Amino acid sequence: MSEKYFIKTFGCQMNVYDSSRIADMLKNEGYEETLKQQDADIVLFNTCHIREKAAEKLFSDLGRAHLIQLERLETGKRTIIGVVGCVVQAEDAQIIKRAPFVNFALGPLMYHKIPEMLREIKQNKKSESVVNTEFPAESKFDYLPENRAQGACSFLAIQEGCNNFCTYCVVPYTRGVEYSRPVADVLKEARRLLDTGTLEINLLGQNVNSYHGEDENGKERDLAYLLHRVAELDGIKRIRYTTSYPADMNDDLIACHKDIAVLMPYLHLPIQSGSDRILKAMNRRHTAGDYLRIVEKLKKANPNIGMSSDFIVGFPDETDEDFQKTLDVVNEVKYIQAFSFKYSRRAGTPAAVMPNQVEEKIKKERLEILQNLLFDYQTKFNLSCVGKIIPVLLEQKGRHKDQLIGRTPYMQNLHVETNSANMNKIINVKVVEATTNSLSGKEI
Ligand code: SAH
Ligand code: SF4
Ligand code: F3S
Repeated sequence: MSEKYFIKTFGCQMNVYDSSRIADMLKNEGYEETLKQQDADIVLFNTCHIREKAAEKLFSDLGRAHLIQLERLETGKRTIIGVVGCVVQAEDAQIIKRAPFVNFALGPLMYHKIPEMLREIKQNKKSESVVNTEFPAESKFDYLPENRAQGACSFLAIQEGCNNFCTYCVVPYTRGVEYSRPVADVLKEARRLLDTGTLEINLLGQNVNSYHGEDENGKERDLAYLLHRVAELDGIKRIRYTTSYPADMNDDLIACHKDIAVLMPYLHLPIQSGSDRILKAMNRRHTAGDYLRIVEKLKKANPNIGMSSDFIVGFPDETDEDFQKTLDVVNEVKYIQAFSFKYSRRAGTPAAVMPNQVEEKIKKERLEILQNLLFDYQTKFNLSCVGKIIPVLLEQKGRHKDQLIGRTPYMQNLHVETNSANMNKIINVKVVEATTNSLSGKEI
C-alpha cells in the first residue's frame, strides 16, 4: 500500500497553485492523497503570513497535528510533519522553536526540495528538524515536475514576488523580488493543462500585470503579449489574470479586454483606500483619481466589465474623512464583488511602527460599514443577472442529486439542475434566482 499525504492550504491563490504543484511532486514519488489527516504519513501545511489571524491559525493546527502524530506513533506509524509557505519565510527557525515536532520547514521558493527532504528524513539521515528559507538564484519552476489539470479551472503561476513594498505588506519579504517565467514555459504548462482537461486558465502572480518574461528570442514581453499568446492556444475557453497593481495597468493590457474574446469580463484590481493621503502612506504608486481613470478606460474597452478590489480599513492615521473617501470610490465603481480587511500590524513592515494606530473598535465599525455597502452592490449586480442567459463552467457537485455548481464569467457561483455528465463543461443557463453570494438557474 502506498503512503499517503495530506495538505492543508492557507492564504492566496498562489498558495493554492503551489499546493497543487506539491501534490504533483508527491504523486510522482508514489504517494497517494488523503483528505483525512489521521490517515496521512505526511502532513503538510502551506501557510500564509498576510494577517495575524492567518499565521496564528497555523499554530493551533500544528498543535492538533502533533497529537495525531503521537497517537499514530502508539500504533507504530510514523508521521512526518512539514510546514511550507510564507509563515516559514517570516518566522524562519522560530517555527521549530515553537513547534519542535515539525520535521521540516521550507520557504515558498524552496518547496521543490520536498521529495529530497522526505527521502533524507526517511533514511534517518536527518534526525533534527530542517529549516530552509533561502531565496535561491535558480527558479523553483525549473525543478517542478510536469503538471496536470486538477479540473476544468486551473491556476498557472507566471510571476512571483513583489517589488512594490506597500508599507503594510509582508509579501515582498516572504516571496522575494519579482520573477517572471519565460513565455515558452508558460505556454508549455498551459498546453499541458488544456490537454488534461482544463478549459479555464487563471494566470497568477502577486503582481501579475508587472509580468516581464522573455520570449523565445530573448525579448522581454509584457502581460498583454502573453495573454494574446495564451488566447491562441487550441481548446482554451476562458482566461483570467490575478492580482493586478493599478500603476501597471498599461494601455495594451486594457485593450486586451476589448480584443481577446476569451478574456473574462471581470478584473480584480485592488485600490486598498480611496484617500490619497493614506495611499501615499501605504506607498501605493497611484492616487484614487489614477485608479478611477483606469476603471473608466477598462469600461470603455469592455462596457460589460465587472470590477473587484481589496480594501484595508484602519490603516495608521486613517480618519473618518479618509474612510469616507474609500466609500466614495465604492459608490463610483460599483464593485460586483470585493474583499475587505481590517489593517493588521505585521512585524518588520514600516506601517507597524507608524504613529496613530487606529483602535480595534473603530476598525471593526469601519469594516462593517464598508462591507454592508459592498454587499449592497454585489447583491444588486447578482439580481441584475436574473432573466439573463449566462454561460457557466460547471466544476463542482451540488448538494442534491443532479445539481452541479459552476462559475459565471463574473466568478459568481451558480447552481443548476443538470445531467452530471455536464461536469467540467460550459453550458448555457437562464438565471432564475439571485442572492448576495450565489445564483441559481435553469439549463436551456
Ligand atoms: N499583490 C496583491 C495581493 C496582496 S495580499 C495586491 O497588491 O493586490 C492580498 C490583500 O491582503 C491585499 O490586497 C490587501 O488588501 C490585504 N493585506 C495585505 N497586507 C495586509 C495587512 N497588513 N493588513 C490587512 N490587510 C492586508
Ligand atoms: Fe503586497 Fe503591495 Fe506587493 Fe500587493 S503590491 S503584494 S499589497 S506589497
Ligand atoms: Fe499569504 Fe503568502 Fe499569499 S503571505 S496571501 S500566502 S503570498
